[in-house]
Amino acid sequence: MRGNSALRWVTWLSVALFAALLPQAAIAAGDLAQEQAERQITQPLNNAPLWRGVRKGENPPYQTTQVRGVETNVLIQTEGQIWREIRNGPVTIYGGWLLIVVTALIALYYYTKGALKLHEKPTGRMIERFSPWNRILHWTTAISFVILAVTGMIILFGRYVLIPMFGYGLSSWLAAIGKNLHNFVGPVFAVCVILMFVTFVKDNLPKAYDWLWVRKLGGMFGDRGHVPSGRFNAGEKVWFWLGVTACGVVVSVTGFVLDFPNFGQGRGTMQLVNVIHASVGMLFIAMGLGHIYMGTIGVEGAYESMRNGMVDEAWAREHHDYWYNEVRARKGRAPGGAPSPVAAAPMKEGWKT
Ligand code: HEM
Repeated sequence: MRGNSALRWVTWLSVALFAALLPQAAIAAGDLAQEQAERQITQPLNNAPLWRGVRKGENPPYQTTQVRGVETNVLIQTEGQIWREIRNGPVTIYGGWLLIVVTALIALYYYTKGALKLHEKPTGRMIERFSPWNRILHWTTAISFVILAVTGMIILFGRYVLIPMFGYGLSSWLAAIGKNLHNFVGPVFAVCVILMFVTFVKDNLPKAYDWLWVRKLGGMFGDRGHVPSGRFNAGEKVWFWLGVTACGVVVSVTGFVLDFPNFGQGRGTMQLVNVIHASVGMLFIAMGLGHIYMGTIGVEGAYESMRNGMVDEAWAREHHDYWYNEVRARKGRAPGGAPSPVAAAPMKEGWKT
């Protein structure tokens, strides 16, 4: 019996409370509707309070929907404004200046110091430095990287550089082609990054003598004397670990999140990943510029080594003498050791490494 009366009491109390509050809510809704009606007279189409509510994400009566999915009930995502300011602000400005400054420094170095030339006379005896697989993989990576770098820059800087230069018509074509190329070449590059890592990691492990290279900055400044190194010098190892591996993995993973937005990613996730992708992408391109310079005009004979896989014995001794000695040792030959002339019997043409 006692339980029933308590229940009755509670029921009556809540009904009374509800009855007391309902008019409040009705009045508040009424007030809002009236306020909006008055506003349409004094300031036609100005519905600021409504949009303030929407922007704050206040539910209901603003944001209900029947549509199922991620954030389908979010009409305006305020963080989007922050993302736009970061992407169009620091990422674009500092990213742009980084590329301009790095390019200017490379040009300045080239015009003041010139290419790293071979001191010794080529012997005509060639050593294989990169196998056909090394080269096919490298150039697939290089070509996809350059396509991604150029199209990425079109997407990020197109508004500030292409539109003033070419107008809306051509720029929108370039942006559309660029975006699709970027989306399709991205996964190819990601696979290349994994294969490059597996292929080159064993020759990029740090060695004690790399420290001497770092201290002498690879002999690239001052008297540019000889600095011993293995198959890859410390500078190439930094490119391998910081560039190819670290940046390569970050731009690939963030690229996949952006490329396949159908795994429940909300706008916040996409915005954060976009900022990381663009920032690390700029760093990667800046480092890549250094590698491309060294791999084209910066070091005499370097381009050919990745083009046809072969280097002259003198080149190997001068730039990668520990590697050169390893190759000779593997072939049961006395080490050649730079800068001493070859003491042992000359090597047969085109020895495999
Ligand atoms: C047009 C662009 C490029 C050019 C001209 C170029 C040129 C070269 C050359 C000449 C070498 C041989 C250097 C030596 O004999 O020690 C080389 C090595 C290498 N390149 Fe490139 N490269 C380019 C783009 C790339 C890209 C995009 C990546 C990776 C994302 C890459 C990764 C490597 C790696 C890992 C090596 C082996 C040396 C090391 O492990 O550091 N290259 N490249």
